[in-house]
Parts: sequence; structure tokens; C-alpha cells
Amino acid sequence: GTYRYNEELVGAFVKSLGEEERKSVIVATKFMPKKTYSFEMLEKACDVSLKRLGIETIHIYYMHRMYSEDVVPIETVAADMKKLVDKGKIEGYGLSEAAPETIRRAHAVHPVTALQQEWSLFARDLEDEIVPTCKELGISIVSYSPIARGMLSGTLTETPKDWRQHNVPYLSEENIAANRKLIEKIESMAKNKGCTAAQICLAWVMKKGGIPIPGTTKKERASSNFAAKNVDLTKGDMEVLEVLGSQVKGLRGNDSYMSYSFHNQLNK
Ligand SMILES: NC(=O)c1ccc[n+]([C@@H]2O[C@H](COP(=O)([O-])OP(=O)(O)OC[C@H]3O[C@@H](n4cnc5c(N)ncnc54)[C@H](OP(=O)(O)O)[C@@H]3O)[C@@H](O)[C@H]2O)c1
Repeated sequence: GTYRYNEELVGAFVKSLGEEERKSVIVATKFMPKKTYSFEMLEKACDVSLKRLGIETIHIYYMHRMYSEDVVPIETVAADMKKLVDKGKIEGYGLSEAAPETIRRAHAVHPVTALQQEWSLFARDLEDEIVPTCKELGISIVSYSPIARGMLSGTLTETPKDWRQHNVPYLSEENIAANRKLIEKIESMAKNKGCTAAQICLAWVMKKGGIPIPGTTKKERASSNFAAKNVDLTKGDMEVLEVLGSQVKGLRGNDSYMSYSFHNQLNK
């Protein structure tokens, strides 16, 4: 349902642009792996997305999570993505929650365009191995939930009473008070710079080499988040933020969420 709505919305937006503007937009969407796999399923999912988007080619087509090896090896998916590229349906493909070795295996079959991974001051588990792997291979890192699912904007002062309450430990009742203290420091840095806390955190991701994709339901916030590209963080600012980032309490996902993360592929 969400995919359908979002793809139609993005499609309408792209359609509303002039020819020149349209060239500057990168359209990305994704499919969710099921319990079985075939090229026909992949192609059908892609065709449905193309139709909803109303475009001829998707620039980046992501696989939302990794298949387990006994369903399909990553090499097969990568080869099938290349078939979609050859057919002109996609320009490139991306992965999400893929371990470094999985990324390398896919990349060896057909170059991976982007890895979509949670990356913010509150989620840094990719920095040790995934970031260097992507940088070495020339793969863009698209940082999902770069505002820590609302936390880094400073507007969340207590645990939200929605799905995040139990699924996102850094927002849990147990951890939120300690984490709020870190946000207060970011808010004061933002005040000194005449920008918002969200902008500081988005600028931090960009400075680290990520491409943030903040989510919002509000137009003004989308513009303000976009303007984070103009926020300049000094070496001193980065050092302060590094220290804050190392003090975060709670993981980015509960056990169930993490069982679909790249860590799970490492543990096998
Ligand atoms: N690959 C994956 O597994 C995966 C997982 C999660 C998310 N994602 C992707 O990542 C993107 C964003 O992630 P996300 O939405 O989970 O988290 P996010 O971008 O970290 O945070 C979004 C939250 O922050 C609020 N917000 C955004 N800008 C704000 C601002 N300037 N001031 C105050 N509040 C602000 C939004 O509320 P309002 O709507 O009220 O502004 C929303 O609650 C989405 O495109 C999503 O598809 C991918």
C-alpha cells in the first residue's frame, strides 16, 4: 500500500517537472524479497513500479533486504538486475542491509550503484567495514533514517507511542532521556550556527560521505532538510559530534529488526 501510494506520488511529481529539471532527478524505488525468488518475479515487480511511476527507466532499483542463501545466492540476483539494465528498465541497482562480503559478491557480477543503510549519529554500525568497502568499490552510500527516525530533529522529547516504541531501542522509554541530553548539545550547536538540529545531523552524514534521504510528511521540512547541504561543519564541530555519537544508548533496531540486518549475514 505504502509503496503504491509513494510511487504514484513521486511519479506525479516527476511528471510535473520541466524537461531540464527532470534530468536532475534520480528516481529510486525498491522491491521486498519474498520467500521464493525468480527472475520473472523480479521483472514483474519492476514493471509494476515503472507503471506506477509513469517513467521508462528507474535510476536505482533496490532490493530492500537480502535473501537467505538457500532461497537465492546474491550472484543470481545481481545477474538478473543486469538483465533489467540490458532491457532498459533500470539504470542500476542497489542493496540494503548487505554485509561487506555480500556487497563484493554482487559487485563482481554487476556493479552495485548504491547501498542504502541506516546512517546517522545514532546508527554507526556500518562505519567499520561497510563504509570502507563501498568507498573502495565506488558504491554510493545512501543513508536511510538520517534523522534517527525523528530523534535528531529535536522535536521528539519522549518515546513516540507508535511502532517505534518497541522497535527502535534508541527511542525506547529506557534510553530516550539519556539520548535527549545529547540532542540538547546538538540543538545548542545549531543555535550558534543559525540552523536546525536536523540540518546539523544531515550535514554530518554528508561530510562523512553519505547521501541522506530524510523522510518527512511536511513540505517546509523537506525544503529545510534539503538546505542542509549549505551547512558547513568545521573539524571542531565534527569532533564534538563524534563524541556525542559515541554516547548514544540503544541499538537502531530490536532483535527482530536486527535479524534482517547485515549483522545476521556476518554471524553465519
Ligand atoms: N532501507 C531500509 O531498510 C529503510 C528503513 C527505514 C527507512 N528507509 C528510508 O529512509 C527514508 C527516511 O527514513 P525515516 O523516515 O525512517 O527516518 P528519518 O528521515 O530519520 O526521520 C523521519 C522523521 O523525522 C521527522 N522529521 C523530518 N524532518 C524533520 C525536521 N526538519 N524537523 C523535525 N522533524 C523532522 C519526520 O516527521 P514529519 O513527517 O512530521 O516531518 C519523521 O517522523 C525514507 O525514504 C525511507 O524509505 C529505508
